[in-house]
Amino acid sequence: MCGIFGCTSLKEGVSKLIYSSLKRLEYRGYDSVGLATICNGHIFLKKDQGKVEEVERRLSLSALPGRCGIGHTRWATHGAPSKENAHPLTDCEGKVAVAHNGIIENYLELRSKLGDSGHKLRSRTDSEIIAHLIEELLNKGLTLEEAVRQATLTLRGSYAFAVISPLCEDKIVCVRMESPLVIGLSRDYTCLSSDIPALPPDVESIIVMNDGELAVLTPHSIVIRDLESNQQLPLRIVAKESVTCLADRGGFTHYMIKEIFEQPQAALNVINAPRYYIVKLAEELVKSDRVYLIGCGTSYHACLFGSYVLRSIADIDAQPVIASEFSESHVKLGKDVAILAISQSGETADVLQVLRSYVNKDVKLLALTNVMGSSITRLVSSYVGLYAGPEIGVAATKTFIAELLMLTRISIEVARIKGVNVDLISGVESILRSSPKLIERSLTLNEPLAKSLSVYLSLKNSAFFLARGVNIVTALEGALKLKEISYIHAEGYPAGESKHGPIALVEEGFPCIFVCPHDETYYKILGNVMEMKARGAFVISCVEEGDKEVRETSDRIFVLPKIETKLLTPILHVVPLQLLAYYTAIARGYDPDKPRNLAKSVTVP
Ligand code: AGP
Ligand code: GLU
Repeated sequence: MCGIFGCTSLKEGVSKLIYSSLKRLEYRGYDSVGLATICNGHIFLKKDQGKVEEVERRLSLSALPGRCGIGHTRWATHGAPSKENAHPLTDCEGKVAVAHNGIIENYLELRSKLGDSGHKLRSRTDSEIIAHLIEELLNKGLTLEEAVRQATLTLRGSYAFAVISPLCEDKIVCVRMESPLVIGLSRDYTCLSSDIPALPPDVESIIVMNDGELAVLTPHSIVIRDLESNQQLPLRIVAKESVTCLADRGGFTHYMIKEIFEQPQAALNVINAPRYYIVKLAEELVKSDRVYLIGCGTSYHACLFGSYVLRSIADIDAQPVIASEFSESHVKLGKDVAILAISQSGETADVLQVLRSYVNKDVKLLALTNVMGSSITRLVSSYVGLYAGPEIGVAATKTFIAELLMLTRISIEVARIKGVNVDLISGVESILRSSPKLIERSLTLNEPLAKSLSVYLSLKNSAFFLARGVNIVTALEGALKLKEISYIHAEGYPAGESKHGPIALVEEGFPCIFVCPHDETYYKILGNVMEMKARGAFVISCVEEGDKEVRETSDRIFVLPKIETKLLTPILHVVPLQLLAYYTAIARGYDPDKPRNLAKSVTVP
């Protein structure tokens, strides 16, 4: 989490460029922000707790002088959000300023050693020790790059950081070790960023740094070295257009609602995505006896959906596993096992940690991600993009739908290669083709009710999301959306299981949101609706057009287009739940794009 950005330019006014890039990076962390530049032999530093624009209004970060600087948006791991703990952090004598993303695992040990040698640490962060370690080595007469390199060799953990110093006015030294970092090249400057979408529009080409590399940037040169051996490495420059496109709010109040309404387009992009890579990945799956689908949060919910479609359409033994829970005591690995990692950002530490531990082992590593060039793409033998475009809202929406649709396309290709489930495939394909229109209709049919129900829901403290079968995915995702942006406690639960405990919470007016397409679970779930009604619950149900029974027993209903292959109903039924979460957050006065305590990509394990 945290976003770092640095720039060294031939021209003045670098702080403006850093400030606007920090705004694009803010979705990675937004509890504090800071900017430091070098000018006339001094570090100029401004930072504080708060969101980027608030702090800019108070401190005018973008007015700092100089042609070289670094900036940081923070998602605190060590030390509360505060001015002292905000980055960039400096050493005792103002010789360096450091912006850091990640965690230094051995910081307590290093902190106490630094304290013993007389260093005064002013923050509670793990990051500040980096500045003092470099200072110590500079005092021994090392160059800035060598001091950074040697300091880095004493660190344990996953991190990326950037360093500037008045000793070298136009230089930025940066390091990558298991946290993302890219270098951008423009005519007048060289920059570095935690991710590609935050790069300024005039960056023409990029270099994605690898773990274990150190880079020295000036406005007209880049040198990359291997941290351990200090050997200079060749530059792997690629055109920026090949990996990115830009994001803006396009007239919507928030990214989240814009991204919800972009879902028909995201579906179209999946339908039109090149078949070649999907078939390549499908061929790997065909050779596997079992596939573990790993992911976190919303992407884990996609894994759960993937296990249904891969089993039902492609006859594959597919098991979903929460990435942070993946351990060999729970899974059975071997030569014919594949791990399919799903991650919107491609940078989620819990996912990367699993993949890293099986690189060069007898397990096939595959991935599905929205960010080409992200770390995940470099760890696996085959991957497929989601083509959803940048997703800035912290709550995943359009990428969830893209994940579900892409998993369906993959399952179809596997089934085709295996020659199984021919009839099922043709039904699934026809729904896929009409999915943009079906999603569009799900949006227009349900937005007014989501808005009006949000007023009622905003006054509640707790809610259940209940479903059976494949729509447990929808219930879990609906509950996650509501809790993460509106801070209402919400539980997604298999409806049949709710009478084994959770039902004790139900009292007059308790919100129960049911997902009830007319599939094989319909009459059982109808029974669960009755059970909740009998205890006074306020029942909101997602039903298909033409539904009678659930409609009659529910207090309010979201109506979704009726589709024949019920396996794909989560793609539509999740839509009103996303809208409900969004409008409830708004009704409670929260910013859905930047929910508290969260960050878009979780790069710490
Ligand atoms: C989604 O709304 C969440 N903010 C979060 O659960 C997210 O899905 C999770 O952190 C995984 O991210 P990834 O897809 O980038 O790996
Ligand atoms: N550990 C650092 C801090 O707490 C950076 C956190 C991060 O990258 O998420 O400030």
